[in-house]
Amino acid sequence: MSTTSTDRRIDKLIELLVKNATVVVPGPKIASEIGTTRFKVWEWIERLRLLGVEIRGVPAEGYQLVTIPDILTPSMLRPDLGDNPIGRHIVHYFRTDSTNAVALSLAAEGAEHGTVVVAEEQTAGRGRLGRAWFSEKSSGIYTSIILRPPLAPSAAPVLTLMAGLAAQKAVSAVTGLAVDIRWPNDLLVNGKKVCGILTEMSAEVDLLHAVVLGIGINVNHSLMPTELENIATSLRMEAHRGISRVQVLVTLLREIERHYQLLLKSGYKAITERWEGASTFAHGKRVRVVTAAGQMLAITTGVEPSGALKIQCDDGRQESLMAGEVVEVK
Ligand code: BTN
Repeated sequence: MSTTSTDRRIDKLIELLVKNATVVVPGPKIASEIGTTRFKVWEWIERLRLLGVEIRGVPAEGYQLVTIPDILTPSMLRPDLGDNPIGRHIVHYFRTDSTNAVALSLAAEGAEHGTVVVAEEQTAGRGRLGRAWFSEKSSGIYTSIILRPPLAPSAAPVLTLMAGLAAQKAVSAVTGLAVDIRWPNDLLVNGKKVCGILTEMSAEVDLLHAVVLGIGINVNHSLMPTELENIATSLRMEAHRGISRVQVLVTLLREIERHYQLLLKSGYKAITERWEGASTFAHGKRVRVVTAAGQMLAITTGVEPSGALKIQCDDGRQESLMAGEVVEVK
């Protein structure tokens, strides 16, 4: 796996160019301000260009940003996050295998609550139920947030619903799209998936050491791979315009902070009630339920404070689902 996070000087370079966006900044000035050589500056500029950052090079003069870059480095995200614990510490990668894998190892090394890992590209993005997560370079948001909640492991399903709720608020606020949540936490736009969340944790019997909320959002993909095109889409494809990944991620982190505080202050029910209000899957949805035990047809009848989905099965049984997936049946 790629274990080196982005050199802080590259982030400084971006910050410098953004601050001086109206002028051409001389190469030697950039090199001395960020503490590197002119050759390294040139190399890093080339790397940023490959990610779609538009930088004009003026021979014998220097460099100038053409547009404000949509890159998820700390200097682009931090200014709008205030003093919130979530996002106080951001670890950026140009490429890594999986931000969840990185976040779990950082958590094991003692990373603080609220640490955010984010990558422009994942080479082994992990999905739920052992699936892979398509992680095209610079198109999506691939992020993992480390939480250290003072709660028991039984809180994990509610934390998962909380993340879905926060993501729904963020995506609809930034794009204006109507966003549904499919239990437990897939975001759908026009019936297709735009966001998936994989929660992983390390815990003892009575206490969660760390929860990693791994969130993948399809933002600016202009098309989806053939095998996904019937079930997945991107925000750009649905909104018919490019969407700022920076804006979506900043809003997402703020919404997670807000909903996490609500959960700690007001309890599980405050989250599950809001979740029920935000999802068409909460009540009266005809679904096929797929669990490790098999498949069944059912109607949804609400969400328990634990986060379990209540269903009335066609064979007359009433059940509470803690895991598995549901698919709408029309
Ligand atoms: C799903 O299957 O719906 C969950 C997908 C979760 C994908 C995200 S992308 C960022 C984080 N890192 C991973 O490897 N997976 C999650």
